[in-house]
Amino acid sequence: MTMGADYSSDQGGATDLDQTRAPASANGHAKGPRDLTVLGFETSCDETAASVVRLTPDGEATVLSSVIHSQIDDHAAFGGVVPEIAARSHVEMIDGVARRAMAEAGLDYDALDGVAATAGPGLIGGVMVGLGFGKAVALARGLPFVGVNHLEGHAVSARLARPISYPFLLLLVSGGHCQLLEVRGIGDMSRLGTTIDDAAGEAFDKIAKAMGLGYPGGPALEKLAASGDGSRFDLPRALLGRKDCDFSFSGLKTAASRLAQTCETDQDRADLADAVQKAIARQLSERTERAMRDYAERHDHRLLVVAGGVAANRTVRASLEKIATDQGFDFLAPPMAYCTDNAAMIALAGAERLALGLVSDIDMAARPRWPLDEARALVDPAHKPGRKGAKA
Ligand code: KG4
Ligand code: ZN
Repeated sequence: MTMGADYSSDQGGATDLDQTRAPASANGHAKGPRDLTVLGFETSCDETAASVVRLTPDGEATVLSSVIHSQIDDHAAFGGVVPEIAARSHVEMIDGVARRAMAEAGLDYDALDGVAATAGPGLIGGVMVGLGFGKAVALARGLPFVGVNHLEGHAVSARLARPISYPFLLLLVSGGHCQLLEVRGIGDMSRLGTTIDDAAGEAFDKIAKAMGLGYPGGPALEKLAASGDGSRFDLPRALLGRKDCDFSFSGLKTAASRLAQTCETDQDRADLADAVQKAIARQLSERTERAMRDYAERHDHRLLVVAGGVAANRTVRASLEKIATDQGFDFLAPPMAYCTDNAAMIALAGAERLALGLVSDIDMAARPRWPLDEARALVDPAHKPGRKGAKA
């Protein structure tokens, strides 16, 4: 069953698995481009989040509310996210988080044009909670429902900063993903490179754990690195001979974890943190620089966007901004609050889909894995069946 409404526009656009173009005038809404107000839910990892976003026909997005309940305290003792604890916590928190998001937006449900929820990829128990809750709100209020790929949410998150037009080159760096994508529009993205082992955020987290820092490791390691000088450590550089845009962090992780055992003083640990942070930033920049050269052959509109939790890292941002400037690219990162997981980016992706007339079937399934560039991932998987790797 498809939940329809008239949100069609002349922007052209995407089709996708589980997405259906809405029939014109299905719910008798006014025709033509207009503001769209969407309630979004995000529950794919350890944040229970709800947000209301308004999108104008010019692409101006306003976050009317963004409520995030972090489960960090529930998982800290285990040094990482425990899927079963995460799913239970989402169930307990989601009603209150949704209520707060609506109250802080100062809106009644009648003011909404649609409901969006992350449908994957992520920890499946958590994804099912947000997806089921979003569908229930949509059904109860007679609103169109949009299931959103979490990665598409990160991909559009920079549009929460200011309207930007497609296409752009995207470096998506989070705890589960490390990819370079050519983003031509909603549902129209191709992968230029991906990690062949760990994601950058995963490397930050695992090295931080080996150094005895808390979870999540990225922010803790960044803080420690501020008082360090990593120049005395010689960490391995991966994939230097390769001509593609892939990433690899497992060698760095192993080397840094070994060095962590030799650190005796706080200064040793700070120096190692600085060396690790610089090594990760350097690899991200080197591979992105390669992708920029490839991308620039096809597009005159030169914009590099970085998104995902690791985009919150100041050294990473500064290093990417420098190579972007050197290559004649504009550079944009989402506001800090929208780098790590949040529901505003999901509500915005939902609104962009609605603007294109794309709504989801109400029986859309939750997906633990869901690559943005599904076609490429099928013929050229980053991880062959049975191999451990990034969650794309
Ligand atoms: O996007 P996100 O919230 O969740 C995923 O979709 O994975 O990203 C979380 C990741 C974690 O690995 C965390 O350590 C990393 O982003 N992260 C950072 C920083 N803030 C978050 N890594 C480095 N420096 C930071 N300041
Ligand atoms: Zn994320």
